[in-house]
Amino acid sequence: MRVLFVCLGNICRSPAAEGVFRTMAADVETDSAGTGSWHVGEPPYGPMQTAARDRGYDLTDLRARQFVAADFDQFDLIIGMDASNISNIERLRPAGNETPVRLFTDYAPESGAQEVPDPYYTRDFDGALDLVEHCSRGLAAAIT
Ligand code: 4NP
Repeated sequence: MRVLFVCLGNICRSPAAEGVFRTMAADVETDSAGTGSWHVGEPPYGPMQTAARDRGYDLTDLRARQFVAADFDQFDLIIGMDASNISNIERLRPAGNETPVRLFTDYAPESGAQEVPDPYYTRDFDGALDLVEHCSRGLAAAIT
């Protein structure tokens, strides 16, 4: 099983999702990507790394890359952080490809959240991590 987490910049939400989820499902291959190219090659955003580190998640090995159409063939499940991510992802879907694309919050229905709000703008890194942990537990239960 291969799961790809996708956000806009690939420096806050999707690397946090990858870093959290991989500790809960060691047998699942994980990666993350951004639909935008601004931060390609960069490590996760400093404040997000610090907030994750404080909970025991090490994001230091991660580097941003851009989501590409070939990812539809490389992964079994693609997870977006908000509705805008989903539409950006779907725009690149190759003809005939049927890889499922889901919202991360679909795996935490009790949270009532419809998206993982972007902490790059909200500055609420801990709130984002709370939700990422909740969604990760639900995803791990659903696929492992
Ligand atoms: P992310 O947050 O999508 O959670 O990585 C963002 C970080 C940077 C930018 C956008 C979103 N940016 O436009 O630079």
